[in-house]
Amino acid sequence: MQHPMLNIAVRAARRAGDLIIRSMNRLHQIEVRSKERNDFVTEVDLRAEQDIIETIRMTFPDHGILAEESGRMEGSNQTDGKDEFVWIIDPLDGTTNFIHGFPQFAVSIGLQRRGKMECGVIYDPLKQELFTAARGDGARLDDRRIRVSKQIYLEGALIGTGFPFRSNIQWLDPYMAMFKDVTQQAAGIRRPGSAALDLAYVAAGRLDGFWEMGLSPWDTAAGTMLIIEAGGRIGPLTGEDYQQQGNLVAGTPKVYEAMLELIKPHLPEGLR
Ligand code: IPD
Ligand code: CA
Ligand code: CA
Repeated sequence: MQHPMLNIAVRAARRAGDLIIRSMNRLHQIEVRSKERNDFVTEVDLRAEQDIIETIRMTFPDHGILAEESGRMEGSNQTDGKDEFVWIIDPLDGTTNFIHGFPQFAVSIGLQRRGKMECGVIYDPLKQELFTAARGDGARLDDRRIRVSKQIYLEGALIGTGFPFRSNIQWLDPYMAMFKDVTQQAAGIRRPGSAALDLAYVAAGRLDGFWEMGLSPWDTAAGTMLIIEAGGRIGPLTGEDYQQQGNLVAGTPKVYEAMLELIKPHLPEGLR
């Protein structure tokens, strides 16, 4: 692996993953706090995030950071009040799963350069699967190149999603209408509970498509890079260019288009 920034992202993700795994044998003692309804943070999220930030800052003190639990931190070398590089970090994606001992969660670290994704890492510490991608250099699962599946139609497709369950519950009705349409066409729908891994699975061809409403940049940054480099497409539900907005659809190029067509008619006013 040549990309020096990707190397640091991998080191940070593996360290955080190890920390998460070590904490699992005392799961019942872990302190859980609720940030808003159904939005939980544990001491493990916080410690993993601190560790990732320290690993990155040690090598790149001049880079900016946007981390789920710490928010936006500026780098030491801004031009016109802007950071050239910004690291986008979700130390533990799938916290609800983690708290319940449900084995599906990941560390997600993406890097943007001047607002464009530069590289990304998603690490599943339980399966020890490392998904990486760097702009122009393809996507990998461990050392193997990965590509999105060859699926063309929604018929026969396996689609991932996330249900509205926090403030995005306001979109439950339009979401259910989308869900009904996708269910009637696809081979199956999965809701594993870690959006970052869902996107990595699209990149690896394990899922043919994915959609969710109300995500945050740290859920999607690294996954976006993986999908682009794996030959897939990712975009907002309106079908425009993707800028880490919260509502998104992703998939193989054809499945992406088919899903957009199904989803668009159900988009509520404020989201069109
Ligand atoms: C959540 C997971 C989940 C998705 C939520 C995210 P968190 O991240 O990715 O799959 O449905 O919208 O917020 O809170 O566990 O880091
Ligand atoms: Ca997340
Ligand atoms: Ca998280």
